[in-house]
Amino acid sequence: MNPKSVRLAMNVIRVFLLTTAFGIFTSTARAQNITGKWTAPGKVLDNGEKDRQELDLHQDGTKLTATITTIGHITPMTGSVTGTHFELFQGKDTKPRIAGDLVGRELHFTTSNQQIAVPAKPGDDYPTFDHMTPPALHDVPSNGLAKTPPMGWNSWNLFNNRVNDEIVRGIADAMVTSGMRDAGYVYVNIDDTWEGVRDAQGNLGTNSKFPDMKALADYVHSKGLKLGIYSSPGPRTCAEYPASYQHEEQDAKTFAAWGIDYLKYDWCGARMIYTDKDLQPLYQLMGDALLKSGRSILYSLCEYGNGKVEEWGAKVGGNLWRTTGDISDNWASMIRNIELQVPTAPYAGPGHWNDPDMLEIGNGHMTDDEYRTHMSLWALTASPLLAGNDIRNMTPVIKSILLNREVIAVDQDALGKQATPVKNGDLETWAKPLSDGAVAVGIVNMGATETTATIKESDLKLNGKVKSAHDLWSHQPVTFKNGEYTATVPSHGVLMLRVSTKN
Ligand code: GLA
Repeated sequence: MNPKSVRLAMNVIRVFLLTTAFGIFTSTARAQNITGKWTAPGKVLDNGEKDRQELDLHQDGTKLTATITTIGHITPMTGSVTGTHFELFQGKDTKPRIAGDLVGRELHFTTSNQQIAVPAKPGDDYPTFDHMTPPALHDVPSNGLAKTPPMGWNSWNLFNNRVNDEIVRGIADAMVTSGMRDAGYVYVNIDDTWEGVRDAQGNLGTNSKFPDMKALADYVHSKGLKLGIYSSPGPRTCAEYPASYQHEEQDAKTFAAWGIDYLKYDWCGARMIYTDKDLQPLYQLMGDALLKSGRSILYSLCEYGNGKVEEWGAKVGGNLWRTTGDISDNWASMIRNIELQVPTAPYAGPGHWNDPDMLEIGNGHMTDDEYRTHMSLWALTASPLLAGNDIRNMTPVIKSILLNREVIAVDQDALGKQATPVKNGDLETWAKPLSDGAVAVGIVNMGATETTATIKESDLKLNGKVKSAHDLWSHQPVTFKNGEYTATVPSHGVLMLRVSTKN
């Protein structure tokens, strides 16, 4: 069957199901079977589009299976029904994503952030998308960018959907006045929720939060900075805004015309159509489109480390690729992300980097020691340094962490090696060889109490070769005695040294 007849057949089946669902509801209302399709209002996007939630429920006794569809996501869930009460869980979650009651002919439920009364009437169908045949694989030539891990700022971690032109200009100003730009943080990256709608020619515009993207890019460039933007290979982004599916070349040209220097390309929305086997060709499509755009645009893949991205990320033209799910501003999340990226170490190098997600330093939910460890680990693993805090309002401590030039130099070392840890009880030692023969080493105290840590020449394979050593957080020289150096490390803190060698 061709795609049109498949769609027609699907619609016939849908109408049949809706009718059946209504039949079940009306005829078994007393038995309170909630099988059927339900619709509820969804969020209103910043581009004026109104989303809707479609709950396709199937009740079998007390068991409930569901598909929750919004404009950008199709989410399977499972759960239960007890009397009039129902609960739905996603994956291995222990807290329900949706919980509510059948009230008359309505489902009244709570999602993570809103309480919605759902009319018991079938929803309109969502648009269906053709499964575009992904292109054959080939190697996309390198764009020559990101010889060292990209550095800059990204809006998502702190501002989320509240990012706008004024904030981005303010951040750009602060990148200069705070010294961030001069320390190497040059990319100012707008994440999701900038998008408007497509015009009759299919050109993607911005929403009212970004009245003139070209003017914003000019402003950012006038400060000696670069501007980054965000899209998805799917029809919708993670936050459900229009994305680049079937508009790859057109969008790349739009970005180039605006003066964009960096694209983060986020998989989420592509899941509505594709599976992980399509990752490489779809990322390749945008890699080619960026090269043809007429502008040098750094290419950041964001697909959470799926499908062994480290093996093909550089082949599709990627300069960095996420190795993990989203970071949160807490110790466990930060450590989980950096440890998940350990197996990818051999794939990091000039031009192409593993990305354990953006920095949370300064967002307020970790201690200063934890933020120092965060910065140290990202530097030791040659990870991109994309600040995620409000650069306009940094405390002196946060500033001193993000602007620690000795630690930044470890991250930006030309050799581009990614450290991996050696574990010993609560202590984790990460060592990174540097281009001048020195070794950067960090010992992290994972434990709940202060402890002493010893760095040994032999652990660094530098027996008898240590010339000098420098503590990169106290900024003091330290001395190895009898082939080792011992210091106190606070809980969740780090001891980080640069150890220079004799020849
Ligand atoms: C995903 C990404 C995040 C961010 C959001 C935006 O969750 O992993 O980094 O870009 O989407 O919607």
